[in-house]
Amino acid sequence: MTLNVIEIRKDFPILQKTVRGGKQLVYLDSGATSQKPNQVIEAESNFYRLHNAAAHRGAHQLAEEATDAFEGARRSVASFLVAQEEEIIFTKSATESINLLAYSMGNAPEGNRFAIKPGDRIVVSEMEHHANLIPWQELAKRTGAELSWFSIDDEGRLDLSKIEQIIDTKTKVVAVTHQSNVLGTINPLRSITTRAHEVGAVVVLDACQSAPHLPLNVAELDVDFLAFSGHKALGPTGIGVLWGRAELLDELPPFLFGGSMIETVTMTDSTWAKAPRKFEAGVPNMAQAVGLQAGLEYLQRIGLSKIHDHEMLLTERLINGLSAIEDVQIFGPKTLNSRGGVISFSVSGIHPHDLGQFLDNQGIAVRTGHHCAWPLNKALGVQSTTRASFYLYNLESEIDVLLEEIGSAQRYFGTKK
Ligand code: ALA
Repeated sequence: MTLNVIEIRKDFPILQKTVRGGKQLVYLDSGATSQKPNQVIEAESNFYRLHNAAAHRGAHQLAEEATDAFEGARRSVASFLVAQEEEIIFTKSATESINLLAYSMGNAPEGNRFAIKPGDRIVVSEMEHHANLIPWQELAKRTGAELSWFSIDDEGRLDLSKIEQIIDTKTKVVAVTHQSNVLGTINPLRSITTRAHEVGAVVVLDACQSAPHLPLNVAELDVDFLAFSGHKALGPTGIGVLWGRAELLDELPPFLFGGSMIETVTMTDSTWAKAPRKFEAGVPNMAQAVGLQAGLEYLQRIGLSKIHDHEMLLTERLINGLSAIEDVQIFGPKTLNSRGGVISFSVSGIHPHDLGQFLDNQGIAVRTGHHCAWPLNKALGVQSTTRASFYLYNLESEIDVLLEEIGSAQRYFGTKK
């Protein structure tokens, strides 16, 4: 069954907005951040209106309500990922989740399974967002480990032909994206996790572009850690998730130190609470966690598989439409096989920023630039691209408007009659 997009759109007040002198907003930038339904906006503001206090601190009723709300949000995220609730760590963003992990590993003393030393290897891929590249580059520099990576092939898929040499016996960490934020490619995780586990490495999955769009089950994915951000999944900004397998979180040392992450403290030493508290120093982002819960429940109510199918309809329409326009190049898979609803392209003779500005003048929001994946752009041989990305609230007619306006841009910039 297809989604009732007209009904869904009624929940998203911003989609009713007109921009640039009365143009109907066509929001095709959900890969950057999703819009928020009323349910999320209300959940977040109701927390402040009715329950605000510092969770896990204080014995009064509000503190209890705030704790219940925050821990309820954790249960909801756990159910979303089919994980255990003590495996869910709240952070401020996916970027913070990955940095937390890299810094925690960097804090591991000799003998700890996460201790990384000179000669060890960390593996990433050429299609990583900077958030899943730079923390590992920096960890490699701090520890003397070597950074190695998978390249991409002509279709924009990972080249796994040398997987045994790249994930070698010295490899400690393999950090890859589930779905490229530029190409839309969904990576074949099974061969990566199988090889990584064969050599005793942990697999870290950047699920920023997949968790909001696909049904995920961490056990089935067979990864060890997973990060995603709330704001791309209908939730508020300022909330991210790090999931880790319980036995690994037990061994992983903390990174941020302070209130509520301890078991005992003396003037000279401290011991740590169990995960997830060990990784959540300071008063947490409770209202944002509750907002995220409302976002994830919204997605589950609609159904992640149905959302993905809908995005594939839109993707097919845009790929077919772009393929029919002369002088347009699509970067990434041109079939629907193992891809998501993110399409980057270029139009000959029009700089992506000029195209973005032209489209914006027509009310169409797309992203232009290197999309925080500079090495990937280099591999593609471009400095920047224009990117359209979809979500459950996008209409097929919005794809048609985009295609029509790309034609108008070609005429406006004189690249086509
Ligand atoms: N990571 C986000 C994007 O790809 C911001 O646009």
